[in-house]
Amino acid sequence: MNNNYLRSFGLLLGAGLVAGSALAEQGDAGRGLLAAATCTACHQADGSGLHVENGESWPRLAGLDAAYIVKQLHDFKEGRRQSATMMPFANMLDDQQVLDVAAYYSQLEVTPGQGGDKADEALLARGEQLANRGDWDGYIVSCKSCHGPGGTGVGSDFPGIASQHAGYIQAQLQAWKDEERSNDPQNLMGSIAKRLSDDDIQAVSAWYARQNASQAEGE
Ligand code: HEC
Ligand code: HEC
Repeated sequence: MNNNYLRSFGLLLGAGLVAGSALAEQGDAGRGLLAAATCTACHQADGSGLHVENGESWPRLAGLDAAYIVKQLHDFKEGRRQSATMMPFANMLDDQQVLDVAAYYSQLEVTPGQGGDKADEALLARGEQLANRGDWDGYIVSCKSCHGPGGTGVGSDFPGIASQHAGYIQAQLQAWKDEERSNDPQNLMGSIAKRLSDDDIQAVSAWYARQNASQAEGE
C-alpha cells in the first residue's frame, strides 16, 4: 500500500470534501502499524481481539472509526476511562502515535464477533428486541437508535458494536451499570445500562456478537 499517496489524497480531499474526519487524516497507517507492535499480544495482528470465556475479553479494533479510537486512547490516558490493563499501553503512545494507530486499525477489515455461539433462541430473541426495538415497558430505547441499523456505528460518536465480542460488550455494559465507565457524552450509555438486567446484558451482547458488521445486515 502506498501511504504517501493515500496521505496526499487525504490532504487534497481534506480541503472540503471529507468533512468531520480531520483528526483521522493526521494519522499515518504505515507508522501506526509500527506503533501497534505491542498491541498485537492482545488485539491480535489482524485487530480481531479475542473473546475470553469467563475472563477479560480483548475488543476487536479492526474497522472501528478512527476518531472513536483516538478518543478512547485519550480517555484511558487521562483516566476518564478506567482499565488497569489498557492504561499502561495507552500511556506508551504520544499524541501522534495515537493518531497513527487509530488510522491503522480503522483501515483493517472487520473481523467476526466471538462468544455468541452458545446463546439459545430465547436469549437471542430478547437480544434482538433490545437492539432493534427497545423495551418501552422498561424505558429502554433501542440500541439501533444510536448505534445505527445493524449496529455498525454512526459517525465517530456512536461506535459499531456488531461483530464485537460478547464478553467485551457485556463487560462494558456492566462497567457502565456499576459506574466504572463514564466517559460517554451526557452519560447516554450509563442511563441505558442501568435499566438492563443481567440477563438483558447477556442477551444483547450475544446477539450483537453474532451480527456481521461487514454485511450490515439486520434492520
Ligand atoms: C494486555 C492486553 C492488551 C494490550 C497489550 C493492549 N490492549 Fe487495548 N484493550 C485491552 C482490553 C482488556 C481492553 C478493554 C478495556 C476495558 O474494559 O475498558 C482494551 C481496549 C482498547 C481500546 C478501546 C476499544 C473500544 O472499542 O472502545 C482501544 C482503542 C485499545 N485497547 C487500543 C490499544 C492499543 C493501540 C494498544 C497498543 C499500543 C493496546 N490496546 C494494547 C487489552 C490490551
Ligand atoms: C442514546 C444513544 C445510545 C443508545 C440508545 C445506546 N448507546 Fe451504546 N453508546 C453510545 C455512545 C455515545 C457510546 C460511546 C461512548 C464513548 O464515547 O466512549 C456508546 C458505546 C457503547 C459500547 C462500547 C463500545 C466499545 O467499543 O467500547 C457498547 C458495548 C454499547 N454502547 C452498547 C449499547 C447497547 C447494547 C445498547 C442498547 C441496549 C446501546 N449501546 C444503546 C450511545 C448509545
